[in-house]
Amino acid sequence: MDLTIRPRRLRSSEALRKMVRETRMDPASLIYPMFVMDGTNRVEEIESLPGQNRYTVDRMDEELDRLAAAGVQNVMLFGIPEAKDEAGSQAYAEDGVVQRALGHMKEHYPQIYRITDVCMCEYTSHGHCGVLCGQDVDNDKTLELLSRTALSHVEAGSQMVAPSDMMDGRIAAIRKRLDETGHTNIPIMSYAVKFASAFYGPFREAAGSAPAFGDRKSYQMDFHNRREALKEALLDAEEGADILMVKPAMAYLDLVREVKDLTNLPLATYSVSGEYAMVKAAAQNDWINEEKIVCEMAASAFRAGADIYITYYAKELAQYMKDGKIG
Ligand code: PBG
Repeated sequence: MDLTIRPRRLRSSEALRKMVRETRMDPASLIYPMFVMDGTNRVEEIESLPGQNRYTVDRMDEELDRLAAAGVQNVMLFGIPEAKDEAGSQAYAEDGVVQRALGHMKEHYPQIYRITDVCMCEYTSHGHCGVLCGQDVDNDKTLELLSRTALSHVEAGSQMVAPSDMMDGRIAAIRKRLDETGHTNIPIMSYAVKFASAFYGPFREAAGSAPAFGDRKSYQMDFHNRREALKEALLDAEEGADILMVKPAMAYLDLVREVKDLTNLPLATYSVSGEYAMVKAAAQNDWINEEKIVCEMAASAFRAGADIYITYYAKELAQYMKDGKIG
């Protein structure tokens, strides 16, 4: 055959494949989501997320040690309070669970970078991401509580805040509050493009944060929409977001690429609980090779344009990267 161009030439050995590889990954771009709960001396397995646990602050070290050993440098905290109320007051309580966890990490694991999810849904008795006005979430009243929560996290030791509520104007409101209080150097990672997704199911069980009535469709995005995703991303960039996020990851990689090309901000994508749970369930049945699937999913997120990958598989991925099993 008279073939001048033979793409297979560059695939003929492992050395060559690695030489021409287009996507290179590093554990520094991984963030591990971690659940901390009120109480003492308890570690609870999360049924919907096999291999993931909820930790009381005095038992966090077990997980933090594993993360440090695996080379995971970034943790994003989610709080599970004992008491919930209409206004989600434990979200911004000085002695709230996330605030105490931050103090503990700051003192004992200063090398781990501390990010906090800012939202009300784990803290409100009705499970919605803000304060209610009738059956609806009151956008502007919620902004005050989110800003207060973000500030309280930062005062307790958070190094980056990540609002996940999808209220309008929250990036501007949080930026203003942080700047007024002298925290001009604390970055905001915005869950800018966050869809109303069934992929969050296992998380809501883990955090006890399912809405008591209705759904989140009046604030999270309709998953049929692409231009609206770009609108949200641009708006958050204008309001002062330092990093944008697309969430979930796997079913939204088209938007990871588009948002990446749209702005010059670093881009994160969150491989959410449902993605993890699906892989785990299939792997437990021996239907798929877990390690290979996890590597392929991560590579696809970075290839699509993500700079940062938030995943419950952060420890495993960091290890695979170190072992050369993935880019
Ligand atoms: C809080 C929040 C959620 C997730 C991250 N922050 C749940 C939700 O919006 O219902 C989902 C994370 C996951 O599924 O892993 N608003």
